Amino acid sequence: MLYNLNMSKTKQNFICSVCSFCSPRWIGSCPECQSWSTFCEKEIANFTKTNLNRTVTLKSLSDKINLPERLKSNVLEWDRVLGGGIVPGSLSILTGDPGVGKSTLLLQIANTLSKFHSVVYVSSEESLDQIQLRAQRIGCQNSDLKFLDNSDLGIIIATIKTTDTAVIILDSIQNCCIENGNFGSISQLRDVTFELMRFAKQENRAIIATGHVTKDGIIAGPRTIEHLVDTVLYLQTDDKNQIRILRSVKNRFGSVNEIGFFEMNCDGLKEVRNFSQQLVADASNAIGSILVSSFEGSRPIIVELQALIIPSNFGIPQRVITGIEHKQVILIAAILEKYLHVRFSTNDIFFKVSGGIKLKEQTTDLAIALSLLSSYFQKPLPPKSLALGEMSLTGQIKPISQAQAHVKEGRTFGIEKFFLAVSQKIEENKKDCVFLSSVYDLLKLFPE
Ligand code: TYD
Ligand code: MG
Repeated sequence: MLYNLNMSKTKQNFICSVCSFCSPRWIGSCPECQSWSTFCEKEIANFTKTNLNRTVTLKSLSDKINLPERLKSNVLEWDRVLGGGIVPGSLSILTGDPGVGKSTLLLQIANTLSKFHSVVYVSSEESLDQIQLRAQRIGCQNSDLKFLDNSDLGIIIATIKTTDTAVIILDSIQNCCIENGNFGSISQLRDVTFELMRFAKQENRAIIATGHVTKDGIIAGPRTIEHLVDTVLYLQTDDKNQIRILRSVKNRFGSVNEIGFFEMNCDGLKEVRNFSQQLVADASNAIGSILVSSFEGSRPIIVELQALIIPSNFGIPQRVITGIEHKQVILIAAILEKYLHVRFSTNDIFFKVSGGIKLKEQTTDLAIALSLLSSYFQKPLPPKSLALGEMSLTGQIKPISQAQAHVKEGRTFGIEKFFLAVSQKIEENKKDCVFLSSVYDLLKLFPE
């Protein structure tokens, strides 16, 4: 049903079933998405007649509210990313590349949730046999978890209404269809999302649906429905290792910076609660390597930076940088070249961040500089070293905020040496701290 807020007698009552473009008359080809024969007539609700004689009670923000209790799964990495558990009556989307592990994660969450709440796992993609096979493989066999393999949204909603289900897992939202809908089209995806949202809110049942990311991210991609839902979660991987990172990019009920770590094994996804500890243990004191700590949501994460500097064989030196802002590394290299007369401009720079993390903070400037210099001078830094500091264009090393929290976390994970700005305020013992004031101090760390 469309609502026409324009009080005049507009007759925009033909709508493209692919992209929802409106036209006052029927047309064969859509000027917006170029689809053919997709226009159909839609009833336009009369705003004046339907709503103007209904009233509701006005409320105040200071009115007492009953906060709904969140539904916890006891999978801590999942609960934290959601802001402390699933909010009843919310609609969340879990999205990510095909094969990243969305179905596996949701099956495991559904399984643990079903020990405390009534949960239905609806698959619009796979048959019950397929899900059972996976469930057996990963040990998700709680008999209280109910399944439904159907893609018709009407049937799904009608069936669930007859039960007391608190959480509905829907895999996937793109494969759900509604009557007379254009299967796979954006308008159908929007309609399905809208109906799910209405159902979740009216019935106070939480829905978590998976959504596929297409290569272009446009056609039937979850991007088009992000603004409609309460929470958008991304499950990501760096392709090379088994680590999966769960990230919330929109959360109406919590922070969007939280991330959770999982590891894909032969028996499903396992929580990785001590991700930093693993990376610190794996970190070598190889040439070009240093550790850095960065806040991801409420906790600092320790990752390893690796640089490789080699003489360039081509006229234009290569810069291959992953996991960190390209410009940040280039800028630090330029500062070092300017003040320390190291010759990066005739060398190739390869730079990466371990563990599939994407660093965004400026707090990594000092670590980048030390890692580049370590590779350039072919000298390793002391084992288990961590650097924290910003660098100005004039070559000064600047303090960062919350350094104490980073140092505290680093010590618990076995960091033996901290490189910090000279003006950085650190409480308690500073025996393991090396204070640096400018780029010239960095040279002293790599004696001839
Ligand atoms: P899946 O959850 O089906 O991904 P998505 O729903 O995001 O498309 O996961 C598929 C991949 O995960 C597949 O490549 C196999 C791998 N996998 C494992 O390595 N171990 C397991 O226990 C399971 C169930 C899947
Ligand atoms: Mg899947």
